[in-house]
Amino acid sequence: MRTLRISNRAKNTPSSPIRKLSPYAQASQAQGVIVHRLNIGQPDVPTPKEFFEGIALFKEPVVAYDLSQGSSKLRTSWISYFKRVLEIDLTQDSMLITTGASEALTFSFMTLCDPGDEVIIFDPTYANFIGFAAIAGVSLVPVRCELSENFALPSADTIEQHFSNRTRAILLCNPNNPTGTIYSEKEVKQLLDLCEENNIFLVVDETYREIVFDNLKPFSVLHIARGNPRVIVVDSLSKRFSICGARLGSIITANSDVYGAILNIAQARLAAPTIEQFAAAHMIDLLGKEHLNQTVKIYQLRRDTLFLNLKAIKGVQLESPSGAFYTVVRLPVADAELFCRYLLEEFRLNNETVFLAPARGFFLEQGRGAQEVRIAFVLNNPELERCCELLESALRQWNFASKSSFN
Ligand SMILES: Cc1ncc(COP(=O)(O)O)c(C=O)c1O
Repeated sequence: MRTLRISNRAKNTPSSPIRKLSPYAQASQAQGVIVHRLNIGQPDVPTPKEFFEGIALFKEPVVAYDLSQGSSKLRTSWISYFKRVLEIDLTQDSMLITTGASEALTFSFMTLCDPGDEVIIFDPTYANFIGFAAIAGVSLVPVRCELSENFALPSADTIEQHFSNRTRAILLCNPNNPTGTIYSEKEVKQLLDLCEENNIFLVVDETYREIVFDNLKPFSVLHIARGNPRVIVVDSLSKRFSICGARLGSIITANSDVYGAILNIAQARLAAPTIEQFAAAHMIDLLGKEHLNQTVKIYQLRRDTLFLNLKAIKGVQLESPSGAFYTVVRLPVADAELFCRYLLEEFRLNNETVFLAPARGFFLEQGRGAQEVRIAFVLNNPELERCCELLESALRQWNFASKSSFN
């Protein structure tokens, strides 16, 4: 058969580094091996019962399309959540509901950029940003952040050196996936000033906004820039409420031109899921700060357990994450991806192993991330302790055996 052509766009969209090794994990599980999964940000914290109550309360005779900008009910609830939890006043016409933050990010790229335009990101970055940008034909320009500096932002001058006449936006993820770093009000303000000076947008992905540790208060760019037409917030219900599969996110903008343009794109895809929007509105109305405090407490305890146990392993380097539920860890191996494969394919201790995400796919800059993995602390404390035991044992075996024998 003659080869049928597929688009360069599709070819240039990388496979997810988080899921890349999944076939090896599935094969091991099929052989009865217990695979502890720390590779993906899929929370195991139970979904609140209020969400399922909401599903049961949906009594419409037809599951119809909702509004393209999202149901009025969910927007009202989400906006009142902003007021209650974050003390931020928003209006319904500044929020558009999307099928997860994923769709919100794709819509943002498509709205702010033409193919070939550039968006500044901080490296390492959430790997799916690379996929969303590829779909929209956007070039991501990485600004280097270092593990030894806990992935802090570089100076404004350094960031500005990455600008060109095609730069349309800076995209910040705060708290950050994959590093767990939190950017302070001062740092965000510095980015905002840069955006003002260069007349570009600031897009802030606040998917993990409420998951912050050590008594930090959730901080939104809207605390300092509500009403600013160059600020776009991408939000998600996936993580803080453990409803990843409900696929609910939003875009918040005070810029009516941007809102109108995004709405046109949203109309082309019709609407976000109806029953999930209904149930999420019910849930949000009933849950407040106590629920969030409990969720944060769970992740903070896990962070503490993981950090302590990883730090105790010889040759492992990491900084304590301050938010989200991820950390980037440097392992004493030359090639972390090969080591992750070894964990899945060969290593066993009591018929158990651990699944980590090689970090190379989270770095845009070639050659970085070879020795690092990203760990998502989405399992309970005893399981996390066990994962660290498994990792320590695997590192010992890996470094004992000839590294080149595994390929
Ligand atoms: C930083 C970040 N943004 C967006 C998403 C996607 O979220 P959603 O499930 O709302 O599409 C994720 C998911 O892991 C994420 O980590």
